[in-house]
Amino acid sequence: MWRFAGMPADYYSDWLRVASEEALHFTLLSEHLHSLGHAYGDFDAHDGLWAMAERTKHDIVARMALVPRTLEARGLDATPPLQAKLQRAGDARAVEILDVILREEIGHVAIGNHWYHWLCRRDGLDAATLYPQLVQQYAAPRLRPPFNLAARKAAGFTEGELAWLETGG
Ligand SMILES: [Fe+2]
Repeated sequence: MWRFAGMPADYYSDWLRVASEEALHFTLLSEHLHSLGHAYGDFDAHDGLWAMAERTKHDIVARMALVPRTLEARGLDATPPLQAKLQRAGDARAVEILDVILREEIGHVAIGNHWYHWLCRRDGLDAATLYPQLVQQYAAPRLRPPFNLAARKAAGFTEGELAWLETGG
């Protein structure tokens, strides 16, 4: 939230809301893990989102492009298949928690989309041609189907962007 100075007040209140929701997601998952006899850190996890946050810490446009609207957006795609797996394993509470997370993550991606386009307009950049350049420059992970098109539309991706994704980026 404080990384980049000189943005409008709405930018900071948006990311403050995201931080508060992320803290809730952590609490929900941590409590659920405890109910199953485990704790945060007991299992391996990837740090892809954090690694990208580090890599983009000097470039707000790349940060918006690659953290919320790439890695958080990948979470939108990953959630329904993960919920199906948990459902099959009989973990109804985890499915419920992921419903909350998915709903709020749509908002995070929407905020990322909003500020990415805002910055592109401010700086006279073409949002559509810049995005693939940033993906390459910062070695962002390749996004693979199935895509959660309904969630992505709700988060503000355009038909053009979704078509681009579906043809393999
Ligand atoms: Fe998020």
